[in-house]
Amino acid sequence: MSNVVVVGAQWGDEGKGKIVDWLSLRADVVVRFQGGHNAGHTLVIGNNVYKLSLLPSGIVRPGKMSVIGNGVVVDPWALIAEIEKLRGQGVAISPANLKVADNAVLILPLHRDLDGLREDAANGVKIGTTRRGIGPAYEDKIGRRAIRVCDLADRAMLERKLDGLLSHHNALRRGFGAPEADRAALLAEIEAIAPQILEYAAPVWLELDEARRTGRRILFEGAQGSLLDVDHGTYPYVTSSNTMAGSAAAGSGLGPGSLGYILGIVKAYTTRVGEGPFPTELVDGVGQWLGEKGREFGVVTGRKRRCGWFDAALVRQSVKLNGIHGIALTKLDVLDGLDELKICTGYELNGKRLDYFPAAMADQAAVTPVYETLEGWKDSTQGARSWVDLPATAVKYVRRVEELIGAPVALLSTSPERDDTILMKDPFED
Ligand code: IMP
Repeated sequence: MSNVVVVGAQWGDEGKGKIVDWLSLRADVVVRFQGGHNAGHTLVIGNNVYKLSLLPSGIVRPGKMSVIGNGVVVDPWALIAEIEKLRGQGVAISPANLKVADNAVLILPLHRDLDGLREDAANGVKIGTTRRGIGPAYEDKIGRRAIRVCDLADRAMLERKLDGLLSHHNALRRGFGAPEADRAALLAEIEAIAPQILEYAAPVWLELDEARRTGRRILFEGAQGSLLDVDHGTYPYVTSSNTMAGSAAAGSGLGPGSLGYILGIVKAYTTRVGEGPFPTELVDGVGQWLGEKGREFGVVTGRKRRCGWFDAALVRQSVKLNGIHGIALTKLDVLDGLDELKICTGYELNGKRLDYFPAAMADQAAVTPVYETLEGWKDSTQGARSWVDLPATAVKYVRRVEELIGAPVALLSTSPERDDTILMKDPFED
């Protein structure tokens, strides 16, 4: 089996972009299976920096097929804008190298509106979303009233579905004291963008089945992270999709038996954007230092990320929930220069020791982390390309991480540059 699923094992922003790019060189097909343009993946290739939100990372590589699966929520305007931006950077994009699932759900301007209205409501739970309309679009999908890519080809169906959607949304908008949506303007906007999207629409599950049968290598590119999963994450402070490896199958239409190697991306410390529990958060000088040295600002919203010590208990949970075979450890170099490092091995709650993160919101807010302290290192690990280039104490840190999370390091990334990667195991050769 030579397919690979890449998932973030923390709260997103683990450095998936670089690893996915590195792996996409070895893949034939790259697939997004959940989330939408709330994701932000940065690829550094030579002197070029590509910032992707919705397009699979394989798009910047000639000869690769990129697929947006049915599990993704697609904002058609964002998609076309991203395609245009990349074309401006010299990337060739056409239906020959990009396919969008014809059964994927659309994000419309009214979803963005609702996301904002909820976030700004004085009496609601503020999640700190990306305000891209992701949650409201998934709500409509599960509520069976969403407009899908294939509906763009059928004017009568589009109008019928739009009416159903508007009666639902206008009721909500009235509740928020917002004006009702303008049907004619929305329909005109959708009709104007439809031909551009339909160009790429395809039954991608057939394409993936064909790829599987002919032995082409498929790379599944997860967005966000395991702790933002709508079931297993820090609910309600989560995104609205299943970010776990298991959803690569449902979100693309390829059977779960073909998923192959599950690679978890793990940052050597912890970050989180938006609201919600974060037991190892550092609000002191060390947290600030990690944020500055690690350039921890959101790709999509530019927000400052919260930073903290490595939480091995959370990652151990992700390893189990995703069935992670091995990890790619990123941004180890950000820890260079610290005298000592702490790793969270479990929690204490009401005087009891816990080795997992509890589900209840109140418990998640009340746990205190149990730490062990390791010696730091002074030498730089940046750009190291082999284990022997690493200080002994850095190797010790990595080994302890492996032990505590219950998964081996398959790849160690030591800078944003693609070649600054220490390979222990090629996930495609499992
Ligand atoms: P939404 O996905 O926009 O609904 O936002 C829900 C939560 O997920 C918020 O805390 C966001 O900050 C977080 N989130 C969404 N996408 C990403 C991502 O790509 N990286 C990190 N956090 C994200």
